[in-house]
Amino acid sequence: MAKTTDGETGREVLVLLGGAGDLALRMLLPSLYFLEVDRLLPHDLRIIGVARGEGDGDSYRKLVRDALGKRASVEDAAWNRLAARLDYMSGDMTTEAGAAHLAERIGEHGALVVYFALSPSLYGPVCAALKSAGLTDERARLVLEKPIGRDLQSSCATNAAVGAVVSEAQIFRIDHYLGKETVQNLTALRFANVLFEPLWDNKTIDHVQITIAETEKVGDRWPYYDEYGALRDMLQNHLLQLLCLVAMEPPSGFDPDAVRDEKVKVLRSLRPFTKANVTHDTVRGQYVAGVVEGQPTPGYLDEVGKASKTETFVAMKVEIDNWRWAGVPFFLRTGKNLPDRRTQIVIQFNKVPHNIFGGPAQNEALANRLVIDLQPDEDISLTIMNKRPGLSEEGMRLQSLPLSLSFGNGSTRRRIAYEKLLLDVFRGDRTLFVRRDEVEQAWKFVDGVAAAWESAGIEPAPYAAGTWGPRSATALIEPLGRSWNE
Ligand code: BG6
Repeated sequence: MAKTTDGETGREVLVLLGGAGDLALRMLLPSLYFLEVDRLLPHDLRIIGVARGEGDGDSYRKLVRDALGKRASVEDAAWNRLAARLDYMSGDMTTEAGAAHLAERIGEHGALVVYFALSPSLYGPVCAALKSAGLTDERARLVLEKPIGRDLQSSCATNAAVGAVVSEAQIFRIDHYLGKETVQNLTALRFANVLFEPLWDNKTIDHVQITIAETEKVGDRWPYYDEYGALRDMLQNHLLQLLCLVAMEPPSGFDPDAVRDEKVKVLRSLRPFTKANVTHDTVRGQYVAGVVEGQPTPGYLDEVGKASKTETFVAMKVEIDNWRWAGVPFFLRTGKNLPDRRTQIVIQFNKVPHNIFGGPAQNEALANRLVIDLQPDEDISLTIMNKRPGLSEEGMRLQSLPLSLSFGNGSTRRRIAYEKLLLDVFRGDRTLFVRRDEVEQAWKFVDGVAAAWESAGIEPAPYAAGTWGPRSATALIEPLGRSWNE
């Protein structure tokens, strides 16, 4: 087994804090492996996994090799190249001694990427320790996983602790949804075509739906999840990021500040929830026992083993108070133990202002709909009305057909979102990472929802696992003459 040599001059180093944890083994190291297969890693990159457990380079490489084997058939040549970069260090990075030991192991280096695959409560102490060991100079890039805080106050405290040791330009806050291929394609669709932008407003769009539905239960993750719930775990970040990409104004360029300036303007325009509107315009649910994909599933409280008012489902009608979107509701929903795994954005256009067709075609003219599927399929389709082929005694008949803008061909491997994001970190491109003011603005909105729930006394309504959330989720959208795309 090839071993890395510590102390080589000028080599780029990636330190994975939490290197033996679930995120590292399930997502980050497989992403690094696939980048290695495609020869996209910086050629001189060294990777040091850091965790508290005992171990050495050999045992770590074995751990990583086994984890990769669970996810893909591993090519020997690419694995050997990756293994030659990999090393392990046991240590506690919240202490000055641990960080000093790491600095020694790193030795002379070029760019230094430190990935925090750790509990966010450790971000502050680890940053202080890294600084004391001299690991936060201008060559350092710190990659932070969500959640950054649990509310605005704790988020500001974490951001301040990190900001005390490095500049904002050195911080890469990950929202892995931004690394998904179709999410990036949404930006291309909007800003590389002349067709959509003139129609992208309240004159032509009736409403927008964004769904992130998961079939997984909370299961073993409950100690973390019970503190956060669907509002903080999914809506604060992934759902609001997707909303921003749909709703933002065209940036002046595809560069970090131009894009993030536009996203933050959307977040600032979200109408806050109050005690008065939160009852009608939001839904909070918690699953009880049911059947998901044919399998009986316990209720959330059975998993947690104690009373809990944490929501596992959230839906809401969000209004964006600006000229482009005034009057266009954005329906957001996400939940665990739903019937389908589906992440989808639906742009529902208005009906034609006057239907010129008589007979049955009167009712056949449906409004256009742009459906952007992020997972499990990656697909973009636009429904277009056209004439049903053939002759009919009743005159012209209409039908709706999807125009597929799908770019996958089924044989291409679906990339892990982290591959793109890691590559961008190595390149120093922050466009797909979340800026401090964005995170804090999103927390401000979410804190408002939580406070409004509290003051209106809204507790999670039960829904059977394997259903689309509490009945009120339908009631949120249907009285307005719209329906969820299911
Ligand atoms: C994570 C959440 O950020 O995203 C999880 O913490 C969730 O609760 C996951 O399951 C969903 O990600 P993906 O890429 O599987 O849709």
